[in-house]
Amino acid sequence: MRRLSTQIRSADIAYHQNDAPNLDDGEYDALKVKLKALETQYPSLVRADSPSQSVGAPAAERFRKVKHSSPMLSLDNAFSADDLGEFEARVQRFLGRSPSDTLQFTFEPKIDGLSVTLIYHGGRLQSAATRGDGSIGEDVTENVKTIKDIPQTIPAPPGTIEIRGEVYMAHSDFTHLNDMQIEKGERTFANPRNAAAGSLRQLDPLITAARPLRFFAHGWVSADAMFGDSQMEAMKTISAMGFTVNPHTKICVGHQAMMAEYDRIEKIRASLGYDIDGVVFKVNTLGLQARLGNSSTAPRWAIAVKFPAETAWTVLNAIDIQVGRTGALSPVARLEPITVGGVVVSNATLHNEDYIKGIGADGSPIRNGRDLRVGDRVKIYRAGDVIPKVADMDPAARKSSSVPYRFPRYCPDCGSKALRLEGDAVRRCTGEFVCRSQRLGRLKHLASRPVFNIEGLGDKLIEQFFELGVLTEPANIFQLRNKLTAKDINLSEQSGWGEKSADKLFAEIDSKREVPLARFVFALGIRHVGEIVAERLARHFLAWDNLVKAIDGSLHSQVDEENELVSAEGIGEKTADALQRSFRDPVARGLINRLAAQLTIVPESVRPDGQRPLAGVSIVFTGTLERMTRAEAKARAEALGARIASSVSSRTGILVAGNKAGSKVRKAKEFGVRIISEEVWLEMLDREENSFHSKTRIQ
Ligand code: IVH
Repeated sequence: MRRLSTQIRSADIAYHQNDAPNLDDGEYDALKVKLKALETQYPSLVRADSPSQSVGAPAAERFRKVKHSSPMLSLDNAFSADDLGEFEARVQRFLGRSPSDTLQFTFEPKIDGLSVTLIYHGGRLQSAATRGDGSIGEDVTENVKTIKDIPQTIPAPPGTIEIRGEVYMAHSDFTHLNDMQIEKGERTFANPRNAAAGSLRQLDPLITAARPLRFFAHGWVSADAMFGDSQMEAMKTISAMGFTVNPHTKICVGHQAMMAEYDRIEKIRASLGYDIDGVVFKVNTLGLQARLGNSSTAPRWAIAVKFPAETAWTVLNAIDIQVGRTGALSPVARLEPITVGGVVVSNATLHNEDYIKGIGADGSPIRNGRDLRVGDRVKIYRAGDVIPKVADMDPAARKSSSVPYRFPRYCPDCGSKALRLEGDAVRRCTGEFVCRSQRLGRLKHLASRPVFNIEGLGDKLIEQFFELGVLTEPANIFQLRNKLTAKDINLSEQSGWGEKSADKLFAEIDSKREVPLARFVFALGIRHVGEIVAERLARHFLAWDNLVKAIDGSLHSQVDEENELVSAEGIGEKTADALQRSFRDPVARGLINRLAAQLTIVPESVRPDGQRPLAGVSIVFTGTLERMTRAEAKARAEALGARIASSVSSRTGILVAGNKAGSKVRKAKEFGVRIISEEVWLEMLDREENSFHSKTRIQ
């Protein structure tokens, strides 16, 4: 329950405060449903600060805060016809009526925007606020005044009237805005809701004015009867005041009719011109609404029936295998192109061999244990803007001629045996130094940002040089000029190149010849030797020669105590094994030695006193952190000198990706930004904090 609360809270902040959701709506709803179920089962464990007891997220610091006259509540969710039926029964029970008594509901689309409350004094728009945490919101008065759908004056009697509704952005305006953003070289928005939220929550109302926002009114706050006797009448009154009420609003009676309306709107959903994420039913009679009242988070007289996540059926045309630099064979689904939630999808990840067979990561069956075969009809699931997944397959549509997919036992690239070691979900090509994919992968890795960060030597260029036989092994990167000459290639004469750009690339390469020990060890790309282990090895052995001696020594020593490699702090057996394997293998050893010969490997030294270890590093957090709050993670990083940024750019140093990280990961990959998990981040924090504090103490 604590974990669920943390996840939900961090998703709330991402969504409401930062306008950058880290979960898609379906996943978020599922967490909430799970938490609610647990809380119902174990009421004594419900914490006062549980997200089920509140709505939204606290108002952001930068806006003036406004206390709402009455709480801006959320809506309870239903996900099926049964859920809706239960809601209807609950209402009837609460009111002491029979389930068969006639009950009118209004039907409205649920607009996927952000809720805003508007206060009019004597017919003049006085103030406007976002929902915030439901009781305190952000003052967005000036910004709201730029929205054409929102009247600045209304024909109304003196006194105060409060109108509530949804600010949103239409699809056409969203597309146009993103085009403009691209033209200006600014960041684009993931979806219309983010665009609307980002546009409304601008400190500069001029920016809001330039963004085409719209508004649908869906409620009001008032104790008196000026709005009539029913929800429907009230909406008519509000419409007559000059507000826009959603044109699909209507009255429904009976479960069947309600579900029919839900189905109807779901069918025309894509052509509405704006995003909706479900429908809302409200008890029509205001007298009954008053009797039903509210729970702490939502009115008892209304329910939102949500649409399921965006999925689409298509055909699995082929399964391709990609080979990575570590030899991992990754299956990719090639699909008959299909639009899922407005995006054309033609590839989806299939994770690994077991996944295709219908076995989940924990060994339990997925898709009821059904396998995936070429030719199958498959359901594609796109969660927000993350990589599409295959959610399910249709057994009825399977052709009798179909055959189970046979995961290759040999590398599709080099033909070497591909082995799956015990306890490993991944099958790997064993052709380490003969496999084109692995060799290319390693070259790309070396030039990439986390390793040598050679600007201008991108994947495409590496592939070209590899094909030409200019780059065949890691050391060649640092011999590029000579290797090109040897092949009689003058880079500055190639298309797209000139004297200047060629010189620039060579200068860039030369500038990377000096490399800290830890980075060099990481660059070797030895399995189980990631950045953390490389750093540990560097700290322990201080110089490359020492490390080489220790590994060589360990190859001969029988006694563990004499084996400095294994006894080094934090170096496990797996790591030691992997290092030994690389050093014993003459081919690998040759590659390592030749690379080392091109470089000046700078020994690890103690950092200058007092200099903060993450000074100047720009860090972005995304996804859900399990072990600490975002606030804590940020504070600790800042204490070590890091700068915290909210979006990924080419200047980002590290992206810490928690659970369910979304679009930022993709962006970071595009920019070649180093991406680390929460676990690695924690280790890094611990390590840096310890060394930093011990050094500052000595000082
Ligand atoms: S009625 C007491 N009607 O959905 C709250 N809300 O998930 C009554 N929303 O905060 C809200 N379309 O911002 C209502 N037709 C509609 C809506 C709607 C979107 C939003 C609203 C609310 C949220 C709850």
